[in-house]
Parts: sequence; structure tokens; C-alpha cells
Amino acid sequence: MAAAVAEGARLVANVEVDMKYYAKPEELAEASAVVFGSPTYYHDMTLPIKQMLEEAAKAKVHLEGKIGAAFGSYGWSGEAPQLILEILKNRFGMKTIEPVLTVIYTPSQAKLEECRKLGKTVAEKIVG
Ligand SMILES: Cc1cc2nc3c(=O)[nH]c(=O)nc-3n(C[C@H](O)[C@H](O)[C@H](O)COP(=O)(O)O)c2cc1C
Repeated sequence: MAAAVAEGARLVANVEVDMKYYAKPEELAEASAVVFGSPTYYHDMTLPIKQMLEEAAKAKVHLEGKIGAAFGSYGWSGEAPQLILEILKNRFGMKTIEPVLTVIYTPSQAKLEECRKLGKTVAEKIVG
């Protein structure tokens, strides 16, 4: 899913796309948009994503007004992307893209296309 989001974003000219497992606060601070991906484990986001958000909050990273989006696969409840999006919106003041993009277990070709679309939408919002 992340690869497809990145692929979609790369379709937009003058946008640099970085795909990372973990982004440090200063890396988040440099970005114009951040798209978080996390599967749902025990009704929550994965630990690295939670740690990344907590580290960014502690470091007082300014993400206000930047574009934020979230996606993830899940099995039966799938809360993680929505939990992430609420933090992006309410804690960091990001402009979020709704609804979040979720997939049950493994993305179909159609869902991968939705991922590409999400990436493209995010990138288009950056360049205006
Ligand atoms: C230990 C464990 C806990 C899980 N807990 C949830 C859960 O609470 N809700 C849910 O919707 N899916 C849950 N799942 C299913 C995963 O979200 C699903 O398999 C997802 O596609 C895993 O993505 P990944 O392969 O990228 O880690 C759980 C899976 C495992 C192995």
C-alpha cells in the first residue's frame, strides 16, 4: 500500500517522495505532507507509529497546516488509520484527507489504485 501511495505521489511533477519505516521529528518537520500507514494490531496503531507521533509531539514539531493522511490494512476492526488521522488533525493541526484508506488483509488491484490516487491527491495539494 505504501509503495502504491508513493507511486501515485511521484506522478506529480516537482514533488519529492521519501518512503520511510520511521521518520525522526526533524524529518517530519521538513515535509510538506506526511502519509502514515499502519495495520491495526490489538485495536491500535503499531508501536513504531505511536512512538513516532509521541516523539514528534515531545519535540514540538510544527506540522500545522501541512497535509496529513493515513491508511492501513486490517482484519476485523481496523481502527489504526482513523486513530492516526485524529492525532494528525487534533494534536498537530494538520489538514487531513478524509476518509482514511483501509484494506482488509491484502489490497486488491482496485485498492492499490485507490492508494495511488491518495498519493497523487496528497502531492497535488502540496504543489497547489
Ligand atoms: C497479533 C495480531 C493482532 C491483530 N489485531 C487486530 C485488531 O485488533 N483489529 C483488526 O482489525 N485486525 C487485527 N489484526 C489483523 C491485522 O491488522 C491484519 O492481518 C493486517 O493486514 C496486518 O498487516 P501487516 O501484514 O502489514 O502487519 C491483528 C493481527 C495480529 C497478528
